[in-house]
Amino acid sequence: MFVGRTAELALLGAELRAACAGRARTVVVDGPEGIGKTALVRRLVDGEAAERGCRVLAVAGEAGERGLRLGLLRELAAEAGRLPVPVRWPPCGLPGRERVTAAGQAVCDALAGAPAGGPIVLVVDDAQWADTASLHALAYVLRRLRGVPVLTIVACRDLGGPWLPDGLRRLLTADDAVHVPLGGLTATDLADLSAATPRPPDRPQGTLGAEAAGRLHDHTLGNPLHARALLDAVPLPVLEDPAVRLPAPATYARPFARRLGSCAPAARRLVTACAVLGDGCPLHVAAAVAGRLGDPLKALEEARVLLDLGRLLRRTGRRRAAAGRLAAARAVFVRLGAPSPAERCLQELEACGLETSATARLGLTPQELSTATLVAHGLTNRQIAAELFISVKTVEYHIGKIYTKLGIGSRVALAAKVTAGGA
Ligand SMILES: Nc1ncnc2c1ncn2[C@@H]1O[C@H](COP(=O)(O)OP(=O)(O)O)[C@@H](O)[C@H]1O
Ligand SMILES: [Mg+2]
Repeated sequence: MFVGRTAELALLGAELRAACAGRARTVVVDGPEGIGKTALVRRLVDGEAAERGCRVLAVAGEAGERGLRLGLLRELAAEAGRLPVPVRWPPCGLPGRERVTAAGQAVCDALAGAPAGGPIVLVVDDAQWADTASLHALAYVLRRLRGVPVLTIVACRDLGGPWLPDGLRRLLTADDAVHVPLGGLTATDLADLSAATPRPPDRPQGTLGAEAAGRLHDHTLGNPLHARALLDAVPLPVLEDPAVRLPAPATYARPFARRLGSCAPAARRLVTACAVLGDGCPLHVAAAVAGRLGDPLKALEEARVLLDLGRLLRRTGRRRAAAGRLAAARAVFVRLGAPSPAERCLQELEACGLETSATARLGLTPQELSTATLVAHGLTNRQIAAELFISVKTVEYHIGKIYTKLGIGSRVALAAKVTAGGA
């Protein structure tokens, strides 16, 4: 089921045809969560790209694997290997920057040396979750693809975010790159979506009328993820009733509830006070309303000191000590819902360059490593689940596997192993 997006598909189709004609083209699709970036790209890949016999290499960033240096590029290299073409992935021993360049070159060589065939479509979805080293390497690849018939599509949440290195940002926003900012679907699209939404046999079937589709549009801003959640949860006659106040879609409410649930009680009180007082309320007023708020503010202050200290330690070559401080600071920022400083911690952590050796030494999968690292930083299973966007059951499963692999049986032993392996 796919509705609307005629103009966007036309833009993407034109770029695809340009690539088929032998030119390297770059398209950036950006927009908030659930707006339909993945669905749009998939529509192109399964539709016109398939009809034109394109070869598709698709990779996606993963929120829980941002600390895995070159993780995304390694996946891209594996995809390129299917062309089929040998890929010379650089050895582990190379120093950081050289390894990034060598990894980029390995992908360039594979793309340029691929056997003749249809044009190549290279999709990087959820680029905002790619590790920074891969984003640098991707910029290296894009700069060298000029004469190769490749359409690169980068889908991401926010081109202005701190996750995007300047070099790649310049390439993605250059005059010859096409920008497709995705907004909501129209009310008509939502009516079409309601017609195409399968409903249980005991529920009334049908299509939303124009007025109800308009109300759904106003309520969800046309976001298909949220609109679909409401179409699934609320019976049609209720949606049609203008007197009914539509609920918050579960897809919208759940992440808030999860984040809030993982906050310390004092932070929760502060968030609740801010929510009641509304946008722009001064912090001291919210703090007074929430009462007894020393803790989160103090934690924030302490985390800032840890971040500064971690930076200083890294710059003076004490990467092991730096990583410990930075990881602790990041955990606090994440729990207090402060994404920008949490992002800065992650960048500093990546710059410490310790993650890859940890995986190699401990023999854990990327998900297991992320879980192990958070356990070592003292997060509970619930907090880890919230941070990695997975269920508590999955966290428990990963921890079980980690214990077996490392031959240990406690969180304390795990923390010791991770510290030894990661530093
Ligand atoms: N044009 C569309 N028509 C129908 N369903 C859509 C459309 N765009 C997105 N969706 C649905 O909305 C949900 C979120 O879309 P997705 O592409 O995953 O968003 P994003 O990648 O931007 O986070 C998915 O269930 C998807 O199938
Ligand atoms: Mg997506």
